[in-house]
Formats: sequence, structure tokens, C-alpha cells
Amino acid sequence: MSEDYRRIADRIARDIASGRLKPGQRLPPQRVFARRRGIAGSTAGRVYGELVRRGLVVGEVGRGTYVRAAPSPSPGRALTESATTAPVNLELNYPFAPGQSELLAAGLAPLLRPDVLAESTRPAPASGTPAVRSAAATLLTVPGWRPDPGQLLFAGNARQAIAGALAALVPPGGRVGVEALTYPLVKEIAARIGVTPVPLAIDAEGLRPEALATAHRSAPLAALYVQPTLQNPTSVTAGHQRRSELATLVRELDLPVVEDRIWAFLRDEGPPPLAAYAPERTYVVDGLSKRVAPGLTAGFLVVPEGRDEPVAAALRSGGWTAGRFALEAAVRWIGDGTVARLVAAKREDAARRQRLVARELAGFTVRADPRAYFAWWELPARLRADTFTAAAAARGIAVTPGSAFASGQAAPAAVRLGVGTVTEPELTFALRELGDIARELS
Ligand SMILES: Cc1ncc(COP(=O)(O)O)c(C=O)c1O
Repeated sequence: MSEDYRRIADRIARDIASGRLKPGQRLPPQRVFARRRGIAGSTAGRVYGELVRRGLVVGEVGRGTYVRAAPSPSPGRALTESATTAPVNLELNYPFAPGQSELLAAGLAPLLRPDVLAESTRPAPASGTPAVRSAAATLLTVPGWRPDPGQLLFAGNARQAIAGALAALVPPGGRVGVEALTYPLVKEIAARIGVTPVPLAIDAEGLRPEALATAHRSAPLAALYVQPTLQNPTSVTAGHQRRSELATLVRELDLPVVEDRIWAFLRDEGPPPLAAYAPERTYVVDGLSKRVAPGLTAGFLVVPEGRDEPVAAALRSGGWTAGRFALEAAVRWIGDGTVARLVAAKREDAARRQRLVARELAGFTVRADPRAYFAWWELPARLRADTFTAAAAARGIAVTPGSAFASGQAAPAAVRLGVGTVTEPELTFALRELGDIARELS
């Protein structure tokens, strides 16, 4: 009697678990597999079907079957950690400017005196210190918007600022509206604090107001999380008209808004933040991880006047307040011009990298603002994102499948390329390889 297909699938599963079969590796075509094992073609088909069902491989007729790049995204899998050992990592997105460490070291030097350290290693309240409130307010000021230093709160990073704001605004079991494609960690933060993200339709300017209105009317939302400027992953920016419409609507619906501006520093002009349109209800999230570095960073929260206490309480009880040393470093780096220099260098760097993307992936549908550090690649027809991600991993390149960003059920046939972390030669190499893979598979 022929061997049970499940037992054969078990053996392949063991090979995957032991690493004998590596993520991204292509399994032989089913008829070759059948011949090698002396089994019927239909049994081979069942084995492959079983492996797909267990989430161990992905496959499409005509394109081959691949060992999955990584286990299905699970809660806790954060895009700030490398999910892969691939040598070229286009998942992470923390840019470093040339000469950055020298600049940072010079700014830190005055902090390392013992008498200064005694002060700067004390605890800091969520409202920081007068010096960091004033430095951060200056840093965040853009044409059309000037936060008051008294509105500033501080978290360890932007993720903690988002967590603090959402925990204060959305009761456990409540609903928070998010763009249909959104920053993946927002979904995980929402899960951790027991609130439900509600996907809202987007278009070429980001969140569509009517989608927000409809969702709220079907079951009330407690808040909205949105990125109106250089949205991760699509890199779109809402114009003045769209911001005005959103502001009018959130006022009408009496909804607080968490506006994430972590990438907005890459644009040197453009419409002011949503906070300028609806200052009484907008909580702005920003931080130093992208402008400076993720390893010694601070998250900023600009809260509407008179609304600081619930958010400060959430930051304190979550353990999300910033370390005092990081705040002191921020004061020095903002004050001595280091942050401004890094911002200028990173704007140029991002633009150069986008030119590489445009050159190497010409002919494909890649959506990217020329100032952004990421690109949203809508793959050729019928090519699935997980197949492509697995094939890329097999060639040593990590990309993020569109499903990581989807707040609803849909798995977009797209991948996001984070172009900021690797060197430019690595990026050029990876883009060429990815272009080849997409052509081979489509
Ligand atoms: C939209 C968005 N918000 C927040 C963050 C996280 O920033 P931080 O590292 O300061 O927590 C990221 C990082 O990629 C991001 O893309």
C-alpha cells in the first residue's frame, strides 16, 4: 500500500524544522518529487497540499513551491527586530548618515562629566524637563504649526508614545480606526492593550473620510491612528483639502486622533500636521529613532491643551517614559545642530536611494514618494507576495510582504522595501536581484 501522504508531509516538516530545508528553498516540481519517492503523482499533490495547509510552504501552479520565509506573522514579531538572517535586509528601516557617530559623540561628550551624569541619570517624569520640552518643541515646529513646550510628553520611542496615547484614549475592548495599510506594530500594540484596530479604506491621499464616517456609524470608534505624511508603507501624503475634510469630520464625530509623524521630517515642505487643523483633539507622535538612531532615542507626544494627565498616567503605568539620559542627549543634539545636520543628510540619502529604486525597478509598479525611505511594490499580475518574499529570501534578501501592513483580512500582492538600512551597493545589488526574481516568476 502506498505510504500515507501525511507521513511524508511529516518528514518534510521535520526537514524544515531542522533547517535541512531552508526558508526560500524551492521544492522540486510535484512530478519529480513523486518519481524520486516512488509515489503516485496524486499522492505528491496531497503532500504539497498538506504542507501548504500547515503553513510550511507557499506555492502556485507554474511558479514552484517554496519553503516559507518565516513562520506566519505572530504577535510579538516586531519589524524593529530582524526577522531573518538574510544578509541584505530590506525589512528594517533605520537610516544612518555617513559621519553620524562622530557627530553624536561630540554632542554627548559634555554629558559624560560625573557631575552632569549625576543629574542626567536621575528619573524623569513623563513631561521631561523644561530644557527638553523647549528643545523638542523647537525641533517639531514646521510652517503652520508650533507646538507649545507645555504640550510635550516623552516616551522611550515612538512605539511607546503610540501605546501611551492609545491606552489613554481607547478603553479595553474599544475600537481604533487605522488605515487599511498601516504601520504593522500598531496592530500589535492594539492587541497588547486589548483594543481592536478597524481597517479604513485609503486612496492616493491616504485615509478616505467617508470610510471613517461609515465605520464610526456602524460601531463607534474611540480614536483614530493615522499617518497623513509619508505614510508607512505607501509613502503617500494627504494634501490640504484632505486634511481639512478629516479635521471637520473628526470634530463632527468627536474623535481624538493619534497622528504619527515619525517620517515627516523627510519632507522639507508640505501641508502642516493634522494637529494644525484640529489642535484640540490631535495627539502627535514623533521621535528621534529615524532622525538620529534607534539605540539612543526618545519618543515625543504633543497632546492637546489640558489633555496631558491621562496620557502621562498611561506612559507612567505602562513603563513607557523616556530615560533621562536619552532626554539629555536629545537636548544636546537638538541644541548643537546635530539633529538638523542628520536630517539634511538623511533627506539627501533617501532621495539618492529612491533614484536607485526608480532606475533598477523601472517598468514595475513601484509606488514611492521620492523623499521616502520605503517603497511599496505592487507585484506583477498573479505573483503572490509570499511566493516572492520566499524566493527573495532564498537569494539572501529580506523584504516585507504586504500582508504585514494590512489591517484587514486582504493580503495585498505587494511587498514593502525599506531602503534606508543597507549600504547603497547592497541596495543596488538587491534591487537588481529582486527585479530578476519578479521577471522569472511572472
Ligand atoms: C510609522 C512608524 N511609526 C513608528 C515607528 C517606530 O519608531 P520607534 O523606533 O521610535 O519606536 C516606525 C518605525 O518603523 C514607523 O514606521
